[in-house]
Amino acid sequence: MLHLLRHPLAAHALTHLRAVDTPPAAFRAFAHQLGLLLALESTRDLPVRPHPINTPLEPHIGDVLARGLVVVPILRAGLGLVQPYLDLFPEVSVGYVGLERDHETAVARSYYCKLPPLVGRRVLCVDPMLATGGSAVQALDRLRAEGADDLALVVLVAAPEGVEAVAARHPNVPIFTAALDRELNTQKYILPGLGDFGDRLYGT
Ligand code: PRP
Ligand code: URA
Repeated sequence: MLHLLRHPLAAHALTHLRAVDTPPAAFRAFAHQLGLLLALESTRDLPVRPHPINTPLEPHIGDVLARGLVVVPILRAGLGLVQPYLDLFPEVSVGYVGLERDHETAVARSYYCKLPPLVGRRVLCVDPMLATGGSAVQALDRLRAEGADDLALVVLVAAPEGVEAVAARHPNVPIFTAALDRELNTQKYILPGLGDFGDRLYGT
């Protein structure tokens, strides 16, 4: 269920995101670019329904999107992946799950949750970093409990540990990522990774 994004532009953007000397403005721009590519990849199989129209020349039956879409960023860093979905799918609904990893234990604590109706819609949980998987598993648990039945996880960088944790708890949830990195360090940061995404995105 792991979908690895393969595109030269994705490799280009990710390399600049990884570089320690990329300033916040450029970091945001590259995150947006990579987010657009992942937004396309994670919606490739959206169902469509026939829609009759008239072209200037003749009647025609085209296709339009058949299903509502919900994007749910895991705050705070996940906010960096919302705009790409808004750009491509202006009708998308946005929910929020607030989780913060404890700096000592790396265990995520929930501090906020606000969700639109999820039943019968494609729900994309977005977060740039999948490290231990603790945050993603908590978020997916909550989304399932709220009725999400068509769920996917979209991350920029994944660690093998996080992929395993999500696959163990949510085996039917596909994971879309631009990179499967090597491992976690002792502080549970991804290697090679790109550091603390939220801090770099917001210059904190
Ligand atoms: C980061 C990241 C994920 C989480 C990943 O958020 O955005 O949510 O860590 O780690 P995990 O897989 O080990 O749970 P963080 O908790 O640092 O909060 P922030 O988004 O506010 O920076
Ligand atoms: N959160 C981040 O922002 N980066 C990591 O490497 C791990 C968790």
